[in-house]
Amino acid sequence: MRITLSLKSLAALSLLGLATSAAASTDSDFSATEHLYQQHCTVCHGAQRIGGTGPALLPESLGRIKKPEASKAISEGRPASQMAAFQDILSVEQIENMVAYLYTPIDNPPTWQDSDTRASHRLLADQGALPETPQHNADPLNLFVVVEAGTHHVTILDGDKFEPLTRFQSHFALHGGPKFSPDGRFVYFASRDGWVTKYDLHNFTMIAETRVGLNTRNLAVSNDGRWVLAGNYLPGNLVLLNADDLTLIKSIATVGQDGTPSRVSAVYTAPPRDSFVVALKDSHEVWELSYAGTPDFIPRRIIGQDYLDDFSFTPDYRYLLATSRKAHGGQVIDLDTGESITDIPLPGMPHLGSGIYWQRDGQWIFATPNISQGLISVLDLKTWQLIKEIPTEGPGFFMRSHENSKYAWTDVFFGPNQEAVHLIDKQTLEIAHTLRPMPGKNAAHVEFTNDGSHLILSVWDTEGALIVYDANTLEEVKRIPMNKPSGKYNVGNKIEFAEGTSH
Ligand code: HEC
Repeated sequence: MRITLSLKSLAALSLLGLATSAAASTDSDFSATEHLYQQHCTVCHGAQRIGGTGPALLPESLGRIKKPEASKAISEGRPASQMAAFQDILSVEQIENMVAYLYTPIDNPPTWQDSDTRASHRLLADQGALPETPQHNADPLNLFVVVEAGTHHVTILDGDKFEPLTRFQSHFALHGGPKFSPDGRFVYFASRDGWVTKYDLHNFTMIAETRVGLNTRNLAVSNDGRWVLAGNYLPGNLVLLNADDLTLIKSIATVGQDGTPSRVSAVYTAPPRDSFVVALKDSHEVWELSYAGTPDFIPRRIIGQDYLDDFSFTPDYRYLLATSRKAHGGQVIDLDTGESITDIPLPGMPHLGSGIYWQRDGQWIFATPNISQGLISVLDLKTWQLIKEIPTEGPGFFMRSHENSKYAWTDVFFGPNQEAVHLIDKQTLEIAHTLRPMPGKNAAHVEFTNDGSHLILSVWDTEGALIVYDANTLEEVKRIPMNKPSGKYNVGNKIEFAEGTSH
């Protein structure tokens, strides 16, 4: 939405649809607030709150921030953006009512149809006319794509010199990791508000953009580079795009076998299976959509005994490990037969989507952080036995390693010790080191260089930084100040589906 052309037209579109569905459904308490919204906010956030020059203000999209933060944005505005302070225009009570109104689910939520997706599509460069080789001197497989969540920018970093090569504005609130074409030339982003963009890392230019929905979770790129599949919360569906130019192929409503509509939690690509695997939020099903040959993208339904909306795969993509409350933790599903083969006792709320695997004594093992308890669960991927629970200083979110590193890095993302990161010895399964890169500030996501010699850690703070470490000596090599750098993605590690990175 930061690309002015599309923003303006979208805002205009929203203005035309002034009769809001919310008006018909909200109770009368909201009518004064709604009137204020139309008076002061519609021009940027859209009559149906689906976004324009400003982001969507639907409960789904506001889920990423807490109510006090939304209230602060309205009263004080946001620095370096068009979001102005409203504290002199609206009373404290009016702002409070506004926040309540924005977070209230809408009975008749705005819709987004294929025609809207088609109308939003824009080609921003003629890909065929661009040079096919990198127009920079850095190693194209050792670039890092760094998402700056605080400023809605992306930095492309040279992974040998650790110097920024270029920086550009992204759509508001990128969500889910960016994904790459198999050759590493193109990177695809999804924003929370539903914008999918394609960027050329050889020429440092944006190729195309399309809005696929009102609230998007993430996207996946097929291993043959032909397709992009995005998964949405609003509307609950999958949207298939041509990876060349992001034109719409089709949208697929995600309705369970029993007729229940479902939101999509995440989409993944499973390279050895030539398929996309889809996690559904409101249905006990996992979908597999093959893209081999001439695909019809008709889903194969794998029926679970529970919601299977957070999962990971074994290195060969034969098995899926899913979080399941009914199974007291985790469940293993054989993707070939569709059968659940065993339950795994995992306490708390394991975050399997961030889990990683490595080899220990010649066996594949898998480790997952836990977002409700301070522990890392380690499993044997052959026997499915729990090998160890490693206590940490608090609940974590991300894990990363590299086949050349002896450590698995994990953060303490939540709670009072969020400044800490633990380095787990991959063989002894003990915490070997605990670092506190910037005391008092959240140390989070780590990503290795393609050769595993160095890694970059994010300090997730408005006055945060990227910190580069030597992966072996653990010495700090460089510190680049940055506003809330969230994820960083190494092109080579990502396209190789390297051991130690999550998917
Ligand atoms: C001139 C355009 C404009 C107007 C008018 C405007 N906003 Fe915004 N608003 C923005 C932009 C742009 C952002 C994103 C700022 C940023 O980069 O963080 C934003 C952000 C927000 C956010 C934070 C959303 C998030 O997900 O972080 C809230 C809440 C919000 N606006 C509410 C309102 C309300 C309520 C009104 C009317 C009283 C209003 N805005 C009027 C442009 C506008």
